[in-house]
This record gives sequence, structure tokens and C-alpha cells, in this order.
Amino acid sequence: MSHSKRIAVLTSGGDAPGMNAAIRAVTLSALSHQHQVFGFFSGYNGLINEHFTELNAASVTDIIHRSGTILKSARCPQMHHTDGLLQAANSLRKCHIDALVVIGGDGSFKGAQALAEHWSGQIIGIPGTIDNDINGSDETIGFHTAIDTALGCIDKIRDTAQAFERTFVVEVMGRDCGIIAMEAGLASGAEQIICKELIDDEPQFLQKLYEQVKANINNDAGHSYVLVMAEHSLSISAEQLAAQLTEHSGVESRSAILGYVQRGGAPVAGDRILATQLGCSAIEHLNAGADGVMVGVVNNQLKTLAFEHTSDTQQRNRDFVARLKRFRR
Ligand code: F6P
Repeated sequence: MSHSKRIAVLTSGGDAPGMNAAIRAVTLSALSHQHQVFGFFSGYNGLINEHFTELNAASVTDIIHRSGTILKSARCPQMHHTDGLLQAANSLRKCHIDALVVIGGDGSFKGAQALAEHWSGQIIGIPGTIDNDINGSDETIGFHTAIDTALGCIDKIRDTAQAFERTFVVEVMGRDCGIIAMEAGLASGAEQIICKELIDDEPQFLQKLYEQVKANINNDAGHSYVLVMAEHSLSISAEQLAAQLTEHSGVESRSAILGYVQRGGAPVAGDRILATQLGCSAIEHLNAGADGVMVGVVNNQLKTLAFEHTSDTQQRNRDFVARLKRFRR
């Protein structure tokens, strides 16, 4: 059996439904191996400011179904500078931490990699972001819930679009990844999915889009038309695109930005289960001596991947585009 460790855990970057379930799994699994667990608040800021609390079973009771994160989350610009990294590393030494579990996304893992240059303890990552944009895991914690939330909203927008025979541009989150747009678009039966993975030449893309929308509306008059668009996919906003569509198609168009609602709401079963599996797996890997890796699920198998490869999304994007093209009208 591995010797007892002092394990720190933090949540960092955009919060995601299921982060609490991951904190719970990490804590309960660590306690069952006789480790001590310390939750650091507000991402890496908690390390820098030595703001933490010891976690026990009672601390993680009644949180599996709650969104947000009991440890709070933040982005921490100080982790981009040596001073911040040194402060974080010093706090970990001062608190006699043996291992750190980082629940977050790509930016958080970059922070973990940088921290490893100044601190010799074990660091392990758990992918928590609604964006599902991390190499090394088919799914990230929060993605399932975000899709369901977006879907619920798009269904409601469809109701009013249908009543008014309008066109709607619905913008979803995803940072630089169009997978939320793709899944929510597919599940809602959207007429168009717009994301930058599909756009080589924006003016050409838009021209074709306007023609397609116009032709479709003319052939199918009296119906609604919904375009699900990933944020940051075009140089024009959802509102501007809607205005352009009105002009080109002659049909009243509106826009709706779903925004931060996609980060809230009780985590769905898929996220709770994923978070629980990954939280337990993180502790098992720490017990086995793992360091500098993220735990993930690939083809239903629990795997690890070195932090440095987690942002390598080229292959992921290729698969994603191939999948999207298969469904495109
Ligand atoms: O990474 C999660 C995410 O919600 C992205 O989808 C979005 O682009 C970003 O965070 C928003 O970040 P912030 O909370 O800093 O505004």
C-alpha cells in the first residue's frame, strides 16, 4: 500500500457542472487510502494566497448534484509569471503537500506544467470544462450538462421561431471549439451549424450560407430556420449575422446568445459519473506514483496523457470535422 500523502485539490478556469462531483470523488477516494485532503480556493490563487481548508467526508456531502464548485474557480494571470509560480510552489512546500490534483481545462494544465518546474511534488489533472476541447479524453466534465442546457434553450427558441416564421441565430459557448455547437445543433435539428472548424474562407462561407438560407426558406415557406453558431466562429457577431440574414433572405431574423447559462444547472448523470470515475482514477494514479499527467476516458477506457499533449487538438479537430461533415445538410 502507498504511504499516506497530503493531497491538495483545486478547481481552475471556467467552472463546469460536475466539478463538485470530482472534488467529492477525489476527497472520498483519497480518505479511503488514508491520505489527507486540502482544498485550495479560487484556482491557483488559493495556492498563491495560501487560502485553503482541510476536506473531510462531511465537506463533500450533498454536493454531487450541485453545479459551480465549492472550492470556487478563477483564472490566475500570476501563473504566467515566475513570481506567481514561485509563490505557488512555496505555499505547497510550506503546507507539506505531496501531490496536487488540478480540475480544469487546457489553461489550467499549462499552469500545472509551469508549476512543475518549481515544485517536485506529484501533479495530476482532471479535465473539467464545458468546452470538451482537451486531447486525451473523449469527454470533459461539464460537457454533457452544457449540451443539455443549450438544447433546452434551442428547443424553446424553436417554439417562438416557428410561431413567427422567423430565422434565429443561436450562439453557444465553446471558446475555440465547435463541439457544443455541433452536438446541440444535431440534437435540436438545427438547419445549420456554424463553427470555425468548417470555415476556410469567411466571405465565401457567408455568401454560400446566405444563398442556402434564402433557397431553403423559399422552398419551405412558413417554417422556422435555426442556425446554431459556436462563439468566436466568425468575425461578425450573432446579431450582425441575423441582420445580414434578414437582408439577404427577406425573412425576419433574430439572434440569441446563450452564454453563461451553459455553465450552470445540476450536472446530468453523464457528468456526475465521469467526474466520479476520473476523481477516483486520479487518486489511484497518484498512489501508483503518476506525475505530470491528466486522467481521461478514451473509447470507454480510463487513460492518462502527459500534460504537454493535452492541448494537441489537431487529430481531435480532424475527427470532429469529419463527423460534422457527415451530418451537414
Ligand atoms: O472555458 C469555458 C468557457 O465557458 C468558454 O466556453 C468561454 O469562452 C469562456 O469559458 C468564458 O470565460 P470567462 O468565464 O473568463 O468569461
